[in-house]
Amino acid sequence: MIYLDYNSTTPVSPEVFEAMTPYLTSEWGNPSSTYKFGSKLKTVIEAARVQVAELIGARSMEIIFTSCATESNNTVINAALKANPRKRHIVTSAVEHSSVLNYCKALEKEAYRITYLPVDREGLLKLADLENAIAEETAVVSLMWANNETGVLFPVEKIGESLKESE
Ligand SMILES: Cc1ncc(COP(=O)(O)O)c(C=O)c1O
Repeated sequence: MIYLDYNSTTPVSPEVFEAMTPYLTSEWGNPSSTYKFGSKLKTVIEAARVQVAELIGARSMEIIFTSCATESNNTVINAALKANPRKRHIVTSAVEHSSVLNYCKALEKEAYRITYLPVDREGLLKLADLENAIAEETAVVSLMWANNETGVLFPVEKIGESLKESE
């Protein structure tokens, strides 16, 4: 079999398997516990947090580990809305993953306004559409980088620059 859906999921790489094996076998425990068997794992998690932060140029306190991408997407959108309670507009695209689209649909029922940017035949969105969609009340722009169905890459750097300019 030739598996061609790495955009959907991948096997665990040997490096990850090797790094994780101790924590799935002998070094397990609850890092939040007060006894040492579990709490000694806290330092391991904090070291991982620093590594992830360095990888993406963030501060370690900005890294929150979640159980899955759905939880991450929901958490980050929710956090941005909570941080800007007066702003009730979200911009996303019509081709986002259901973890974003379903959450946006639920937010519509709570009187949030959602703009779903269209894509063309190539699966790409127009930066002009994004710029036109941004309003004073926009709290979040949620756009994926690599589309999980088509593999199309959105130009996230250009999108970021354009959003900074519109601030
Ligand atoms: C782009 C994208 N976002 C979110 C998800 C949801 O991931 P999870 O199953 O980890 O919640 C997926 C799953 O394939 C995805 O491809």
